[in-house]
Amino acid sequence: MSAKKKQQAKKKTSTKKSVGAALLDQLVQEAKAVRERAHAPYSRYQVGAAILTKRGSIYVGCNVENASFGATICAERGAIMQMVAAGETDPIACAVVTRDGGSPCGICRQVLSEFAVDMPIVLVDLASSEGESGKVVQLADLLPLAFRLHS
Ligand code: THU
Repeated sequence: MSAKKKQQAKKKTSTKKSVGAALLDQLVQEAKAVRERAHAPYSRYQVGAAILTKRGSIYVGCNVENASFGATICAERGAIMQMVAAGETDPIACAVVTRDGGSPCGICRQVLSEFAVDMPIVLVDLASSEGESGKVVQLADLLPLAFRLHS
């Protein structure tokens, strides 16, 4: 394989996408704002999520709990539903804001990975002295060997 072809192949399978600090910051602010709208009367644990797409749009979601606990929808999945309903399918970064730096649950990791092989996820701990800069983790590290259906 030629050097150019190798480079192209590498680009295709590369899991790292660089998103600027300013955009990540904006994502965090949107996640923080939507967290305030969480419906969490049972756990009192509010979660805000924001997803940035390749096109540059931002979609947000907050957790919506239900008296029938299993019917609860997490913030990350809420944001993904918004993205898909708006006609987009290419998330490139995500921010999750909680009171303790919580990371996406297993179901949300799988749902995120339906649309992105990998992307940075900023986990913001509102109680941390580090403020709102958050800790950046990669989706591929959170969910290695994600399930995929090959037909
Ligand atoms: N929650 C999320 O919104 N995202 C997650 O990834 C984990 C958990 C919500 C669900 C529930 O409303 C509350 O946090 C406590 O589990």
